[in-house]
Amino acid sequence: VTTRREDYRAPDWLVPEIALDFSLDLERTRVRAILSVERNGDHDRPLKLDGDGLALLKVKLDGADAAARQDGEQLVIDIAGDRATVETEVEISPAANTQLMGLYASGGMLCTQCEAEGFRRITFFPDRPDVLSRYRVRMEGDAARFPVLLSNGNRVATGEAADGRHWAEWEDPFPKPCYLFALVAGDLQANSDRFTTASGREVELNIYVRAADLPKTAHAMHSLKQAMAWDEQVYGREYDLDLFNIVAVSDFNMGAMENKGLNVFNTAYVLADQDTATDGDFDNIARVVAHEYFHNWSGNRVTCRDWFQLSLKEGFTVFRDQGFSADIGSAAVKRIEDVRVLRAAQFPEDSGPLAHAVRPDSYLEISNFYTATVYNKGAELIRMFHTLLGPEKFRAGTDLYFDRHDGEAATCDDFVAALEDASGVDLSRFKIWYSQAGTPHVRAHISHDADAKAALLHLSQHLAPTPGQAVKQVMPIPLRTALIDRHSGEQIGDERLIVLDEAEQAFRFDGVGSAPMLSINRGFSAPILLDVARGPGELERLAQADGDPFARYEAIQELMMRALVAGAQANAVDADTVVEAIAATLADDRIDAAFKAEAILAPSEALIADRLDVVVPDAVHRARDALRAAVGARLSDAMLAAHRQEGGAGNDLSPEAKGIRRLRSVALGYFAAGDATAGAALAKAQFDGADNMTDRQGALGLLVSLDGPERVQALDAFYLRFREDPLVLDKWFGLQAMAQRAETVDEVLKLAEHPDFTISNPNRLRALAGSFAANHWAFHSPDGRGYAFLADMILAADKLNPQTAARLVPPLGRWRRFEPHRSKLMRAQLERVAGTSGLSKDVYEQASKSLV
Ligand code: ARG
Ligand code: ZN
Repeated sequence: VTTRREDYRAPDWLVPEIALDFSLDLERTRVRAILSVERNGDHDRPLKLDGDGLALLKVKLDGADAAARQDGEQLVIDIAGDRATVETEVEISPAANTQLMGLYASGGMLCTQCEAEGFRRITFFPDRPDVLSRYRVRMEGDAARFPVLLSNGNRVATGEAADGRHWAEWEDPFPKPCYLFALVAGDLQANSDRFTTASGREVELNIYVRAADLPKTAHAMHSLKQAMAWDEQVYGREYDLDLFNIVAVSDFNMGAMENKGLNVFNTAYVLADQDTATDGDFDNIARVVAHEYFHNWSGNRVTCRDWFQLSLKEGFTVFRDQGFSADIGSAAVKRIEDVRVLRAAQFPEDSGPLAHAVRPDSYLEISNFYTATVYNKGAELIRMFHTLLGPEKFRAGTDLYFDRHDGEAATCDDFVAALEDASGVDLSRFKIWYSQAGTPHVRAHISHDADAKAALLHLSQHLAPTPGQAVKQVMPIPLRTALIDRHSGEQIGDERLIVLDEAEQAFRFDGVGSAPMLSINRGFSAPILLDVARGPGELERLAQADGDPFARYEAIQELMMRALVAGAQANAVDADTVVEAIAATLADDRIDAAFKAEAILAPSEALIADRLDVVVPDAVHRARDALRAAVGARLSDAMLAAHRQEGGAGNDLSPEAKGIRRLRSVALGYFAAGDATAGAALAKAQFDGADNMTDRQGALGLLVSLDGPERVQALDAFYLRFREDPLVLDKWFGLQAMAQRAETVDEVLKLAEHPDFTISNPNRLRALAGSFAANHWAFHSPDGRGYAFLADMILAADKLNPQTAARLVPPLGRWRRFEPHRSKLMRAQLERVAGTSGLSKDVYEQASKSLV
């Protein structure tokens, strides 16, 4: 059944209050729910409660046995008056819940995941985000097995019960939709701390983990306190309860979940220490901890009216966490990373069969819409508003939004209306970014009139059709733009924010004495594809001179991209200009190591492939290898120097030290590309001598792609040392799946049989199958074994966990982009998946849509 945005109707019944009573047990948990329900509006429709996989034991209406009927998955109850008390009791089995939605068991503990539609797997309820209730929760369970009993809000009572059981009662004073409900019961230890809010509220903070993991929680706690302070300073948002709990679980479908006062996290986004986590892991922990914390306002205090509005909370909250990470680290490098993620994950979505709008129009399974488009393109959309309004007016807009809609379920339109009302700026034409899918393609060139001392910027835009949107409208595209003097490298006049909002348009710049260079879409002000006509030597010049760090990065990347695209088509790479640009970048002491590392890193094979009309993966791979080899050979001294740069001590987590470590591994990669033997020796030395996971993983990531004894030695050493640590073992699987070797498919097939591979754990599945599907060259092995392996994994995982299985489908959906032989093989595997009987609707939706 397709759900459509246009079909939205307010709920027939509201549930202002709910009391839940859990009798906890791994195999058989009983859930009693008492709902006070209220008719909403003038109608005589019955109460309909959603349920999924619940064994119904009893239903009562106002204390008497009720005549309830089951209509499909729903429980239907006729109610004469406008108010009633409905009581249900059900039994569920957390241990048998492999979907990890609802109440499930993970490593002996019990926990919940309710977003988007998991609450119906716990009890009968109107499972939609616009029904907000006050929760009172009682839970009882074995005191030895579940010493810690947690839910949302405040703990109001605890006590002992018979047979070694105990209980706790929790109350959440803030009305919330059921997707924010959470319960945790387990043998956990807390890292506890405090935070005093700006207005003086004392908040108790706890991060609950297994006892052995306690030493790895310091960074998450530090990040949480930073995030709490940042949201006060930047958005004026304070925490609103006396208690904030985080719980880490090993089996989790996504990154984390913002349940009110009780965030549940994938262990991957909580646990870190120098020895087991990379700098990237540390950054991701800070980002996700902040993201979930920020949801307390953008998501919880103001929630979504329906799931089509998902980007209202996710796009905005990603924008907020991006701002946080930029402020605590390097803003320039953070912007580069954000754009890299957008291009790697969202642009392919936008140009493929699963393209959808930031605010989609329909879905079969909402879990399939937790996408890079809703999250990351949604964040770019908020960033455009921020750019258009400027920071002060934007802040006035978000203040009004939070104030106006506090305690409500709102829409994306409500958000824009608040920005408009607070700023006085009309944003109506920009709203098309919510509804129109696809990445606009902008072409630019500049002409110069020497007599008039004027430059004319000519822009045009084009947007290709996407599924369900054959005809596209012109979009308003905000472009931060500057002109730069070709000779001095100085910027001419001020930067301008221009808005391209016609199919073709010209913008005049006065006071331009000689033909200038164009610096456009600075800071990546709009999420578009850009094609700028450049004169000879212009990119090289901009790569050194552009005053906007992002534009400067783009110039170097574009220089490499042009060499790589030409190389993939001609089977020979001209590396001269790239070598010079990289040499100049490495030698420039005005820029820091982190920026250098980002700037000189060669574009990924997937990104190169996105520029080609027909992809031949071997040609792309050869071109990239050849470029890297040429750079590595000709700049071996500079790479060695960058590799040896001082200041990256393993226990130093400053942005500077992280940048030095990042450059160290990038430089090592180039050096080894130029000289495999010397590179292997250097990588082995780095691996053996590393006192931190960043250097260790950086070296191992290189060694796995080399042939020779170092490869196996390092992998075995790594395995022996870390085999008891699941998150590090994920790295071991992932690095091998990402190896750039002809034998990678064979290795991956073998790893799927390894005793430590378990398909039921989402992190492990993603580490092997997800990483492999992202390994462009290996996945697209011409014999099609990579495609068959992924299809096997999808089908096997679908039997246990449809949500996570469905996330593996998109790589096969790229079939239209490849040369005919591979295209056919990919399509055949997709057909095999789509044609399998008993498929979940999650995988069915992704596979069937990918075939069209
Ligand atoms: N709201 C969570 C976050 O982004 C993600 C939860 C997604 N859950 C799901 N079943 N798809 O912070
Ligand atoms: Zn989120």
